[in-house]
Amino acid sequence: MGRKAIITGVGHYVPHRVLTNQDLEEMVDTNDDWIVERTGIKERRILGGEHGSSFMGAEAAWMVLQERKIKPEEVDLIIVATVTPDTFFPSTACRIQEMIGAKNAWGVDLNGACTGFIYALSTGAKFVESGEYKKVLVVGADKMSSIVDYTDRTTCVLFGDASGAVLLEPGESDDYGVLDSILRSDGNGAPYLHMLGGGSLHPATHETVDKKMHFIFQDGRVVFKFAVTKMADVSEEVLLRNNLSGKDVKYFIPHQANLRIIDAAAKRMNLTKEQVVINIDRYGNTTAATIPVALSEVYHEDTLKKGDYIVMAAFGAGFTWGSLLLRWAQ
Ligand code: ACO
Repeated sequence: MGRKAIITGVGHYVPHRVLTNQDLEEMVDTNDDWIVERTGIKERRILGGEHGSSFMGAEAAWMVLQERKIKPEEVDLIIVATVTPDTFFPSTACRIQEMIGAKNAWGVDLNGACTGFIYALSTGAKFVESGEYKKVLVVGADKMSSIVDYTDRTTCVLFGDASGAVLLEPGESDDYGVLDSILRSDGNGAPYLHMLGGGSLHPATHETVDKKMHFIFQDGRVVFKFAVTKMADVSEEVLLRNNLSGKDVKYFIPHQANLRIIDAAAKRMNLTKEQVVINIDRYGNTTAATIPVALSEVYHEDTLKKGDYIVMAAFGAGFTWGSLLLRWAQ
């Protein structure tokens, strides 16, 4: 194996339209107090009907390329984590490739639900480490508003739309970059969090639409219990097996699904408030985009220094879950 993959650029995009808890009070039987207390979410962003996830992914990718000052033709590979591709095919990666003019890249979509970005970042890093590719764009983009039932109060308050992207390049040593990742899944979780309609099992029909099978379904309590345990487990494990403790971590960047789940993982790692990156109040759960958006916000605040350790962790439909240890290289 060659040198570790380092992150050399970070970008994100959130749509302009804000959907507040007060707006949702007008739509379903809910209230601001319940949403804030149970989830930590105050508002989320919604993308207009005329665009799909590729639009947001391309915007985030553009930001990365412009700030890194490289031409789109230099990109070798685009991996897009999403559960809301523009279409089943062609892939959202191909659409982004065309939108940003990365004509020498190939691209592929990856579905790891809310763990998608960690799966994709780990995968992209392997392509760089192998020595085969020099510039890999990893994008997390989800237009959750396209699969949310805005008459179902148990899900519509949770989700939002956004995208984030990073550029991976070879580092100069094995001491920086994507150092380790733990990736897990358990298909027994399928009944508790899914979207059944539209795939080969239940192709779209009038009946699937009438039964609202094209919307996200979630048994929140089951998912919550699973998430609290598993996200904390892998966050702790990735530190332990690298001989690190919570004190060594500059930032913990968790998937933003529920503030109480984030708090449980942070507690297990003995972290202070300052170490935990939280933006769920402003964006809700944007699935594959939560982690790169949070990383991009931290990066643009200019608080990251060479040598800082970052732990990322997520869980989602599947069930899927995982963590990733990163050491900042610049
Ligand atoms: N407003 C007001 N009341 C509500 C709302 C709402 N929006 N939603 C549910 N309630 C009610 C319920 O009907 C229930 O009422 P009841 O006691 O009369 O039956 C009560 O509030 C409590 O409901 P619970 O579901 O037990 O509430 P809980 O504390 O579990 O919070 C939540 C629900 C926020 C969904 C939580 O379970 C959760 O965050 N689960 C995990 C979600 C998650 O992380 N999903 C993963 C990723 S998504 C992906 O991979 C694509």
